[in-house]
Amino acid sequence: MEIFETVAEIRNTVKKWKKNGLTVGLVPTMGYLHEGHASLVKESVRNNDKTVVSVFVNPAQFGPGEDLASYPRDFGRDKAMLEALGADAVFHPSADEIYGGNPLTKVYVEEMSSVLCGKTRPVHFGGVAAVVSKLFNIISPDKAYFGLKDYQQFRIICKMARDLNFDIEIIGMPIVRDKDGLALSSRNVYLKPEEREAALSLNKSLGIAEKMAENGERSAAKIINAVKSAIEAYAAAKIDYVNIVDPENLKDIDTLTGPSALMLAVYVGNARLIDNRIIGS
Ligand code: PAJ
Repeated sequence: MEIFETVAEIRNTVKKWKKNGLTVGLVPTMGYLHEGHASLVKESVRNNDKTVVSVFVNPAQFGPGEDLASYPRDFGRDKAMLEALGADAVFHPSADEIYGGNPLTKVYVEEMSSVLCGKTRPVHFGGVAAVVSKLFNIISPDKAYFGLKDYQQFRIICKMARDLNFDIEIIGMPIVRDKDGLALSSRNVYLKPEEREAALSLNKSLGIAEKMAENGERSAAKIINAVKSAIEAYAAAKIDYVNIVDPENLKDIDTLTGPSALMLAVYVGNARLIDNRIIGS
C-alpha cells in the first residue's frame, strides 16, 4: 500500500492503473477509522481492481467554533488498518495541497444543504461538496463509496454527481453499529461513559418509529412526537432536530406514502450525534 501526499503523484498512479484497464474505487474519509469506514473499504476492495482511501480532515466543512482542532486523528493506526483491509493507496494531503492557490470556486447543492444538519451547520455541506468534487477530479474513480450514516451527505453527493455529470457510480453502504446499537462515528470518542445510555436513545427511538410505521401509522407528526419523547426521556440528550423527509430531495413530508427518511441530530454532552432510518417501506 502506497501513501501519497500530493495531487500530482496520486494522479500519475491512477493514470497508470487506468491505462492498464484497471478499475478504481474511492473511499473518502477524515480518518480515525472504525468498522463503519472499514465496511466501505472492504466493499471497494471486493468490487474494484484498485482502492484509494483519502484521509483528510477537511477544514472547509467545519464552521467557526466547531471541532476542527480537536477532531480525533491517528494516521499511524489508520495506515495499519487500511493495509490490513487491502487498500492499494492512501491519499493524505495537507490542507495547503488541497486549498492552496486561493480557490474562488464554490460547489453548493442548493436546498438540500440548508436543511436538517445544514441549519445548525451552514457552511458544512458546501465544504463537503467542495472537497468531494475535488477528490472526484483528482482520483477519477469508477465508483465512490459513502455511508448511509451520513444520509444527508450521501444524497447531496448523489445530486452533485448528477448535476455536474461526474461519471462516477455513487454507492451508499448500510450504517454499521456497535453491539448496543450506537452508530459508529469517529466523534463517539467525545462521549463520556455515563453518556452512553442517552446516546443509545437515538437508535431506540428509530426502532420505535419503525414499529409505528410498520403498524400502519402514516402521520409524520405523530411519529416525530413519539421519537422526541423517547429521546427527551434522557436528561443528557438535547434534540437538535427530528424530521421525516422525502428520501431523495430531503423535503419534509406530513404523510408517509412510501419509504421516508427519519432524520435525527441530538447533542449528548460534547458530542453531536446523528442517525437515521428509512421507515414506511
Ligand atoms: P467521515 O466522517 O470520516 O466518514 C467517511 C465515510 O464513512 C462517510 O461516507 C461516512 O458516511 C462513512 N461512515 C461513517 N460512519 C459510518 C457508519 N457507522 N456506518 C457506515 N458508514 C459510516 O463523512 C466524512 O468523513 C466527510 O464528510 C467526507 C465525505 C470524507 C468529506 O470530507
